Amino acid sequence: MPGPTAGGAYAPDPLIALRPWEAPEVTSWGRLPMNAVDRRAGALSLDGDWRFQLLPAPDAPDGVWARAEVPGAWTLQDTDDLPQYTNFRMPWGDVPPASPAANPTGVYEREVDVPAEWAGRRIVLHVGAAESVLLVHVDGRPVGISKDSHLAAEFDLSEVVRPGRRATVRLTVVKWSDASHIEDQDQWWHGGITRSVLLYATDPLYLADVTARTRIDGELRVDCQVRHAAGTLPEGWSVSGELDGRPLTPDTAFDRANMEDGRVSGFLGEARLGTLVPGVRRWSAETPELYGLTVRLHRADGSVADSTHHRVGFREVEVRGRDLLVNGERVYFRGVNRHDFHPLTGRTVTYAEMHADLAVLKRFGFNAIRTAHYPNDPSLLDLADELGFYVVDEANIEAHDHAHELADDPRWTAAYVDRVTRMVLRDRNHPSVVVWSLGNESDYGANHDAAAGRLRRHDPTRPVQYEGAAKQGWADPTVVSDIACPMYAPVEECVAHALSGEQTKPLIQCEYSHAMGNSNGTLADHWAAIESTPGLQGGFIWEFWDHGILQRVNDGRPAGRGGAGQYADGVAAPGHRWAYGGDFGETIHDGAFIADGIVFPDRTPKPVMYEHREIAAPVRLERAGDGLRITNRRHFRGLDRLAAEWRLALADGGTLTAPAELPDVPPGGSATLPVPFDLPDDGGEAWLTLRVTTAVDEPWAPRGTEVCVPQVRLRPAAAAPDAAVDGPPVEVDDAGLLVHPLLAAAPVLSLWRAPTDNDELGGMAARWRAWGLDRLTREVVSVRRAGQGVTVLAEYGTPAGVVRHEQVFTRVPGGVRVEESAELPDGLEDVARVGSVFETVAGLDVLEWFGQGPWESYPDRSAGAPVGHHRARVDDLFTPYLRPQESGGRHGVRNFTLSGPDATGLAVALDAPRQVSVTRFAAGDLAAAHHDELVPRIGCVVHIDAAHRGLGTASCGPDTSAAYLVRTGTHRWSWTLRLL
Ligand code: GAL
Ligand code: MG
Repeated sequence: MPGPTAGGAYAPDPLIALRPWEAPEVTSWGRLPMNAVDRRAGALSLDGDWRFQLLPAPDAPDGVWARAEVPGAWTLQDTDDLPQYTNFRMPWGDVPPASPAANPTGVYEREVDVPAEWAGRRIVLHVGAAESVLLVHVDGRPVGISKDSHLAAEFDLSEVVRPGRRATVRLTVVKWSDASHIEDQDQWWHGGITRSVLLYATDPLYLADVTARTRIDGELRVDCQVRHAAGTLPEGWSVSGELDGRPLTPDTAFDRANMEDGRVSGFLGEARLGTLVPGVRRWSAETPELYGLTVRLHRADGSVADSTHHRVGFREVEVRGRDLLVNGERVYFRGVNRHDFHPLTGRTVTYAEMHADLAVLKRFGFNAIRTAHYPNDPSLLDLADELGFYVVDEANIEAHDHAHELADDPRWTAAYVDRVTRMVLRDRNHPSVVVWSLGNESDYGANHDAAAGRLRRHDPTRPVQYEGAAKQGWADPTVVSDIACPMYAPVEECVAHALSGEQTKPLIQCEYSHAMGNSNGTLADHWAAIESTPGLQGGFIWEFWDHGILQRVNDGRPAGRGGAGQYADGVAAPGHRWAYGGDFGETIHDGAFIADGIVFPDRTPKPVMYEHREIAAPVRLERAGDGLRITNRRHFRGLDRLAAEWRLALADGGTLTAPAELPDVPPGGSATLPVPFDLPDDGGEAWLTLRVTTAVDEPWAPRGTEVCVPQVRLRPAAAAPDAAVDGPPVEVDDAGLLVHPLLAAAPVLSLWRAPTDNDELGGMAARWRAWGLDRLTREVVSVRRAGQGVTVLAEYGTPAGVVRHEQVFTRVPGGVRVEESAELPDGLEDVARVGSVFETVAGLDVLEWFGQGPWESYPDRSAGAPVGHHRARVDDLFTPYLRPQESGGRHGVRNFTLSGPDATGLAVALDAPRQVSVTRFAAGDLAAAHHDELVPRIGCVVHIDAAHRGLGTASCGPDTSAAYLVRTGTHRWSWTLRLL
């Protein structure tokens, strides 16, 4: 341990002197093998406050002690080493395996009273996770080294500590190392001990590992490995086990074969237990049936030396042809990529927080998780087993910046193999894990093949995927990926592959539909293709979280745990903001690319979640002749545990409800039934919704939680334009602008929206700016009055040609009709929108509309917003995406009112379902880096669009499809404005 000796000289420490942070061959030293035995019961928690100091480099002498919280990242505590965000650029320039000279190194120290009753026992230190290199000393003695920031490291302290005595544990964590080069994931860089630290004791005779394998016929096989601290095993040990109280049978044939083959060893004990469960309840994401398995290790006298408890699920996974089957069924993977994340604590997450993550995913129809890009906190898998998720468990290997250089580099072989092997040894008993992943974005090389070899030996029961290999040929049998798992492949390419006759493997995208900002356009089209194309089975949306870190605005520091409660509904409280790349003063960073999730940093669902929920709906509703057809879209169960209610929304007649009975149909089955309402003759356009809710309390949602709202149209709108009437002339000013008591700014043409992240990164925004669409100037060409009406012609000049905009104002009963047309010249291909924008006076704070809602929707993200009568406060219509951008739109709006507390205001009726937005912000107001910098207007900014560009996903992946682009040529729309 480094520190001044009695003479004041500096004592070299072997763990430091070796410079293991620049030695990729050194993956560990003194570390115990990974295993699946559960040691949580009876362990001593060492979490809490530790002495802490942050050294400028691993070989710097000790300085001044402060305090730090374990588990926790020091980058979010009171240090000067703050979080830094880079996508794939390494934050320093050195070539692997070098690390920078300035290398923050956290030294954690505390005393531990080793229980006296542990005398004679084997004592183990467990460090849940430390990034990126962990050096362990106890009482000044070097004990061990570990790498891999997302898996636990255990060290045998039996020879180092004395029961009944106090020991000093020192954990040195070096931030930058050779390992950083293969932990180059797209996320914040942190340093610290990010998962719990424990001390536990076992009998000298102990279970070294337990592996459970199940089959859907009810067969359970449990393989046990037994060791003794002294090396040699005593005579007469045995294992026993039970499953939900029913005893397991020792596999004597296994013992005999071992004996005959001479495999029986004096220091590695092996035994196999088994049973066949009659009428077994199968595990699946829809039916997460678990059985409790207890395994006991006995001494010769029968007494119990050690035991472990697991929950097992009976399920089988298999790739057959181009289908990935779970229990023989071709299930869809409605997945998301999930990082361990929390806005206050970085990568330190609690059981309750992970439960909340999975509950929200379950409520919104997700059934699969890829643990991007490392094994997530171990409790996540317990929860996935329990709540029902298919997990792609991914190893902590991402060499992104130096992917190609490291894939074949023999110096890194040990690290690749080590990370994959340890993941499998930790997680293979979890039924939720259905696929292993070798890592992310690390090219493909011998190191992957080496890791896969080890993996398949440890677990022949699950398929292996690796995008870096799959991209060398989706159908190529020679690359180490059982699944074609591309990222961001255009759906047309996936369909073409499936139809080509060449497909040999299931196609499940490991990442698709990038959720940065206002995004996920065409998700429904994607799923329509998946569900209609054999060979396509789903994918994993990128990603779950917007990784905004809660930051205090006044001093720019992370709020840390002290920020608890300083946010709600996706918004940081006053004085705070969600920090993204660059906000901690980093000069090398990748900005808001870290904010690309389907939930805000506080887990508030973004509007896309509702879109997904409907796409994943377990219940589908269609018209069938004069009646209706209800289909069960589940794979393994009927429509049990669901309740439903009918809702009939009439454009001119409010909403009627009636109780609904869900039919008893098997998975995939359907039933027809009559329309539950007699449609009144008046009432206009009519939409029937089946509101499906949970019928019982589920572990992920209370009874009555909305599950989906499938909808059919029962009657179209009857077009009945208002006839012009006589009355006072429509008033326009000299510039031809409508004069109206409730308008603070008259309707003019709008071709622009505040660029979304997709617009910016996809290059559209730059083109729109080059055309000047963000600052159009209006030139009046003519104002012609005829009777009570007025026709105004205006022109908007752009470098790509002139846009002619005509408005015809006519007096209609109770108000004014505005008929508009805009001619876009050929050069103005693909603008953001064509429509009118106006601003109201203050005091109109409530929007009520008939159209799609209640949540935000856009032309290519509108499958999940049912048509109905909706109502919201204007302040709540805007979605607070981390980087301000176009937001708050509602698709398919037929009419709306904006009113004040006295119910006066204005009413707008549209000629056809249109994209409408009502917010406190003009598009130009949104030019701010963060949501908290926006200054809302007192009036409402209203957009009525004849055409609005789809959102697409061009920030990373395909843009929207051609059908959702705004075309050149003439656009026409009209609307009527009345006073309420
Ligand atoms: C992928 C990568 C992810 C993330 C995403 C973009 O290429 O695997 O880690 O960077 O793109 O947000
Ligand atoms: Mg990457």
